[in-house]
Amino acid sequence: MAVLASGRGSNLQALLDAISAGTLDAGVVGVFSDRVGAPALARARAVGISAHALSPRDYPSRDAFDAALFDAVDTVAPDLIICAGYMRLLGAAVVAPRSARMINIHPSLLPDFKGLRTHRQALAAGASRHGASVHFVTAALDGGPVISQVPVPVLPGDDETSLSARVLEREHPLLVETVRLLAQRRISLGDDGVLLDGRSL
Ligand code: GRF
Repeated sequence: MAVLASGRGSNLQALLDAISAGTLDAGVVGVFSDRVGAPALARARAVGISAHALSPRDYPSRDAFDAALFDAVDTVAPDLIICAGYMRLLGAAVVAPRSARMINIHPSLLPDFKGLRTHRQALAAGASRHGASVHFVTAALDGGPVISQVPVPVLPGDDETSLSARVLEREHPLLVETVRLLAQRRISLGDDGVLLDGRSL
């Protein structure tokens, strides 16, 4: 797997921990970021995984940045590309050829609350249920076919901090389990959506 991450990298860490515990039969071959100081890069380097950061301001356009980023990703020839807290929109030119092997984890029950500040959105909407989703990546923002989801209750007195912590705790096993199914080739992207063991979800 190649992992794309912009920040903290706790989802990357969950994958690394499952691999080192022997519960996920996969490997991370490179970590890529749009932020030079992303803590996710340090998490990768700490266990000897190559980590690369490219700065968007060094490129004349989003497409040029995307192309350079994926040139770097292609050098490690990943079977899967995991967006784990990668906070930049990816253009169709780089996404379309890779959709069937690129996934993203998003902190909401899609199709609810796409985009940023999902916990704030859920609280503002008065939702009683929130959660996280893993989906194949398409050029539509948080709009690709959903593979897996986990619901989380919104509790009285919740604020963004408490709700995001409750969701994050469930994101980690959701991502690990979804990657496990992909690594076992049990999940795939068919013409009409996501397939599990060859059948529509
Ligand atoms: C997670 O909530 C993820 O769902 C979202 O960004 C956050 C990244 O957290 N896309 P981390 O960097 O993996 O700790």
